[in-house]
Amino acid sequence: MSTMTINGELKPTPDDVDALLVDVIRDQLALTGTKLVCGSGVCGACTVLLDGAPVVSCLLPSQAAAGKALTTVEGIGAAKLHPIQKAFMAHDALQCGFCTPGFIVEAAAFHDRWRMAKGTAMPSREEIAAALSGHLCRCGAYENIFRAVAEACAGRFDGDNVTAPRIEARDKVTGAARYTVDIRHDGQLEGVILRSSVAHARITGLDLSPARALPGVAAAISLLADDNIVRYVGAPIAAVAAKDRRTARAAIATIRLSSETLPAAIGLDAARRADAAVVFEKANRKYAGDVSEGGGSSARWTGNVRGPSAAFSQKSKRAKAWLTEARQKRDPLLVEETFRVATQSHACLEPHAAVARFDGDRLTLHVSTQAVYEVTEKLAKRYRLAHDKVRVIADHVGGGFGSKGSLGMETIAATELARAANAPVRVVYDREEELSVTGYRPAAEIKIGLLPSAQGDLKALSLTAYADTGAATNSTIAALARLIYPAEAKELVDFDVISNLPPGAPFRGPGGPPMAFALEQAVDEAALRLKFDPISLRKRWDPDPNRQRLYDWASGLDVWRNREQATARHGRYRRGVGVAAGYWLYLWQPGSSVELAIKGGRIVAKTAVQDIGTGTRSVIAGTVAKAFGLEPQDVEVRIGDSSLPKGPASGGSRVTASILPPTLAAIAKLKAEIEKSAARPPLPGSNAPWRDLIAASPDIAVYAERAKDNRPAVGISSPLKQAGLMGIIFGWMLRTFNHIVVGAGVPSSVQVMEVEVDTWLGHVRVLNAYTGLSVGKLAAPVLARSQAMGSVIQGIGYALYEARETDPLTGHVLSGNMEDYRVPGIADTPRCEVYFEEAGFDHVAGGSVGIGEVSTIPTSPAIANAICNAIGVRMTEIPIRPDRLVDALKRRTAA
Ligand code: FES
Ligand code: FES
Repeated sequence: MSTMTINGELKPTPDDVDALLVDVIRDQLALTGTKLVCGSGVCGACTVLLDGAPVVSCLLPSQAAAGKALTTVEGIGAAKLHPIQKAFMAHDALQCGFCTPGFIVEAAAFHDRWRMAKGTAMPSREEIAAALSGHLCRCGAYENIFRAVAEACAGRFDGDNVTAPRIEARDKVTGAARYTVDIRHDGQLEGVILRSSVAHARITGLDLSPARALPGVAAAISLLADDNIVRYVGAPIAAVAAKDRRTARAAIATIRLSSETLPAAIGLDAARRADAAVVFEKANRKYAGDVSEGGGSSARWTGNVRGPSAAFSQKSKRAKAWLTEARQKRDPLLVEETFRVATQSHACLEPHAAVARFDGDRLTLHVSTQAVYEVTEKLAKRYRLAHDKVRVIADHVGGGFGSKGSLGMETIAATELARAANAPVRVVYDREEELSVTGYRPAAEIKIGLLPSAQGDLKALSLTAYADTGAATNSTIAALARLIYPAEAKELVDFDVISNLPPGAPFRGPGGPPMAFALEQAVDEAALRLKFDPISLRKRWDPDPNRQRLYDWASGLDVWRNREQATARHGRYRRGVGVAAGYWLYLWQPGSSVELAIKGGRIVAKTAVQDIGTGTRSVIAGTVAKAFGLEPQDVEVRIGDSSLPKGPASGGSRVTASILPPTLAAIAKLKAEIEKSAARPPLPGSNAPWRDLIAASPDIAVYAERAKDNRPAVGISSPLKQAGLMGIIFGWMLRTFNHIVVGAGVPSSVQVMEVEVDTWLGHVRVLNAYTGLSVGKLAAPVLARSQAMGSVIQGIGYALYEARETDPLTGHVLSGNMEDYRVPGIADTPRCEVYFEEAGFDHVAGGSVGIGEVSTIPTSPAIANAICNAIGVRMTEIPIRPDRLVDALKRRTAA
């Protein structure tokens, strides 16, 4: 038997020649800091050191480590934090933290090599990008990673001091943070799902007995819906729990299935044809997924097309008539265009995962979820259990971006398998499942007509959007154009096009990025035709006070003031500067609550919210600490557990606005209680009275619920009110059915992008990103900045790289791996400047509104507008691939 040294300890190397090193590290040695993401050497999350050299453990057989020294993230800085770990903590070079161990291992190796060769010289951005180009961070923490690595190499973190704006940063840089995929109970089984290999079929027979008969298999269950129809490749059919994943997969292969193949309609164009096969008959529409974050509307269906949904139109007939008249008169100011956006996958690095365990009639689940409390409610309802018999836990969540907001099939399968097997069961999606069946931002075709008046005002606007929602409904794209740029008349029409593809899901600002891609380019085009500065035109057309302040900031940027026209640019590489604006709704969740307690002389804050990398722990700890004159580390924050007081879901940028007010209210109550129960005043001469009072306090607890906001200042109202009766009805529906309130004031973003276009090869590089945000007061400024920059990185991916590809004949997803689904890497990262405008939300309890959604919405049109400024060509389809750009240039030359 051969051996290897792991983090300094001698261990046997497994005899199994098929065992991968990553599985041995994680499953046999329980060193779960090393993460498995892509399984194909693309993302770097599984990086370890083998005899000091970084390698990806997902591609190495474990026997390759025989006789060698292996170091995992747990072994880096085990005795004392490595300078790279301290730098990542200090610069907040992480968000959800799932990619972080891989980055730490690689960056530590780079740091050590660099210091040996170059002393404390600082590496350049390009040198750092080259060293870390084999790693992906879906949260987009790259800008802070650049800073952390540069400063660690320069020796700035050689000392013992370590500070971190993110309270759980140490756990994330050392690999100690536990995610759902890391949970392991005694006797735990692995669950695997059998999925449909065809796009549309009726399952006429399902025989699970061969799977159940296989040694090592504990349970096999059906996951078919009542109608026994599968409507997309990857639809769940059955699931198996076995002693390990290999056995479960073997069992899945034995399941006998008979089916009747049904005609399928795949994708936007095929599903819209009059003779297209129908995906959902009337009686079965309840099985359709939901791509909205709430507030779905009713609309009629015609075949696979659901719509028109046009409730947010305003004098739509007049808009149509004016646009028709302008077209007939060939009005040069009329802007008409059709834009197309691709499907964007969430691509969370931690896959969807659940671990279920029954103890008698009590169900405990670890779930990678954005909604511990809501998932508990849904599970209790589905399985007719009392709420207190179900507990959902999510200590850390490796990204969600909207895809983990509801009760997912991984959770259902784990629960039902655990019940059938009478043992704990873990279901973890592989990367192909993650990139195929967990939802996406739907592709869309958006037709726009925009007509300025001769005086330069916005007269009429028309948007018609067809969203490629797969087996799902409720897309909202065109309607979002109602709440920006008031016009005399607007015709805003949304259609869902349902097809035999996996269902879409909410994704960061659902509907916002596609709407902005079309509208903001049309506004830009209008500015060109009117010979207006694009920011000045927006200032004229857009009365929102928050964006007015951001326009002033943007127009003062040097990069904007020095901007040239496309006609002035020559040569192969051409630079351009573009602007775009975006907004999102200010949302909060009623009933959100916080308990603050003193336990054993220490403050404990509790709420059933989850931290998906957005910094919720740090917001709570920082707020409490500041109020009591403590350090954030003095506050124990317990979240990620549905047994705690009810907290909000992480969706719609609602968490901070929901949690901060009850935290502040609980602080006031706790102070009163402490003072009431104080046996003696603070120690004489003490400059930390609350610290002393807390230390001497008996155990007490107070509770506070999110209160209503104050009346806003004149001129600030809910944007839904501006949308008239339909807006008020929509707001009522959101509150009643989705437990979300739309508050007054509009979180806003204005972004300026500088790009460089290679006119020969069609490549676009974003050189500099300037993002201005109006989101109220910052509860955790450093983390707010990190989140804003990460959102911009996702917007760059949307604009330039990301597209889920499917086979138009079979419905198979062709980009089910991270080589074919390209997310931005560190070398794609521009220099990023974030500006926060804090006014405009004084009426909000706590003063803060959400950041995550609004800061990704204007990125893709700002890039497209910058490209137009660089080369004089308007790109109407994203991703703006090199071939599309070269084609567009050729067409312009030919014209
Ligand atoms: S999991 Fe090994 S490189 Fe991605
Ligand atoms: S912090 Fe990198 S993936 Fe989330």
